[in-house]
Amino acid sequence: MARQAGKQNCRRVVLVSCLALLAAGLVGDFLWASSHRFSSVGMSLPSSFTTVIGQLPPNSNGNDTEKKKEKNDKVRERKLSATFQDLAAPELKWEKMAAAPVPRLDGAAIQIRNFLYVFAGYGTIDIVHSHVDIYNFVDNTWGGRFDMPKEMAHSHLGMVTDGRYIYIVTGQYGPQCRGPTAKTFVLDTDTNSWSDFVPLPVPRYAPATQLWRGRLHVMGGSKENRHTPGLEHWSIAVKDGKALEKEWRSEIPIPRGGPHRACVVVDDRLFVIGGQEGDFMAKPGSPIFKCSRRMEVVFSDVYMLDEEMKWKVMPSMPKPDSHIEFAWKVVNNSIVIVGGTTEKHPETKKMVLVGEIFQFNLNTMKWYVIGKLPYRVKTTLVGYWEGQLYFTSGQRDKGPDDPAPRKVIAEMWRTKLILNP
Ligand SMILES: *[C@@H]1O[C@H](CO)[C@@H](O)[C@H](O)[C@H]1NC(C)=O
Ligand SMILES: *[C@@H]1O[C@H](CO)[C@@H](O)[C@H](O)[C@H]1NC(C)=O
Repeated sequence: MARQAGKQNCRRVVLVSCLALLAAGLVGDFLWASSHRFSSVGMSLPSSFTTVIGQLPPNSNGNDTEKKKEKNDKVRERKLSATFQDLAAPELKWEKMAAAPVPRLDGAAIQIRNFLYVFAGYGTIDIVHSHVDIYNFVDNTWGGRFDMPKEMAHSHLGMVTDGRYIYIVTGQYGPQCRGPTAKTFVLDTDTNSWSDFVPLPVPRYAPATQLWRGRLHVMGGSKENRHTPGLEHWSIAVKDGKALEKEWRSEIPIPRGGPHRACVVVDDRLFVIGGQEGDFMAKPGSPIFKCSRRMEVVFSDVYMLDEEMKWKVMPSMPKPDSHIEFAWKVVNNSIVIVGGTTEKHPETKKMVLVGEIFQFNLNTMKWYVIGKLPYRVKTTLVGYWEGQLYFTSGQRDKGPDDPAPRKVIAEMWRTKLILNP
């Protein structure tokens, strides 16, 4: 009898453990999902959550047993601040400008003179845009909407301009977490006409893209499943919106693959900044390719290619930063980067947005945190005009105390740009 009771107790313990594990799993799923859904659903952390790690009160009598007990209590109470990743940064005066005609997340933008061409992007997780809106920095108005080709990707595009022609490389085709297309296009901004371009050898999702030394370079990004980092790097000779070669050529792979990085050419050197390995994937078997969270690793790495065609490691960003492919401008030999995402919250695993502006001064090869944004925001689209730094679009945080993503925005803001010499 006693043995049987023991067995039953044992079974009960196993059952309870299983239920606990299941519950933990479900909560985990919910948290992952809530960090990408564009809704207010999700657990928000009260602002009183504070960090107490490493701040256990000293034990007066040095009794190990007591110390252990106290530590266990503290660990149970331990909470991390929801905003612990924020860096100290100067407050800036922000001016709200005319909002874009539509909200966009994971769109793309290219500035040519006083025009900011804003492409594609998600409106919601189920709706993607297939048109271009144009902001005019001279009269601060939006206008000039025109359609993109039907076969062009709707988000996570690689994009670069020579000042007239815009090259649009691969990207994700469709809403939710559909895969990328290899199709590639050119826009002539003098006539707003599109032409086809040599497709990339394989589709890529949010690859780093730049024009350098007469060649269009495309590297990194995620592979077709959206998650696996690609290391490949291709280039093709181009002039005036046309390919001068029939095929893309393989180049030196990048040291670290993955999507959502800034790729910038300044002074004949190519920089690849920040980004991440891994991303949301389509739920297996989902007919709508429903997004499901996969753990990404965000990094602060900066790599540079120069005439030696070897990757060199540059000073790292002040913190890991991703979702910045169109969130940068070059001003006075500095690369300025606006917002993004940083490493996920260590406890909730929720995505954490970035609320700072960074400067990489290429004269001194030093990084600075040069200002605070009106809120934390990722996939901003950035322009610069007559001393003012502009940003529009993206997905902002839940509020000052909660850096997790929430609303997809159309807002446009500007501030006077103040750089460190
Ligand atoms: C340490 O504290 C525990 C729990 O209060 C107590 O049972 C034990 O006797 C103490 N040991 C010493 C060496 O003081
Ligand atoms: C860039 O340099 C010019 C010339 O030195 C200066 O007038 C201007 O204020 C600088 N811009 C910024 C944003 O620092």
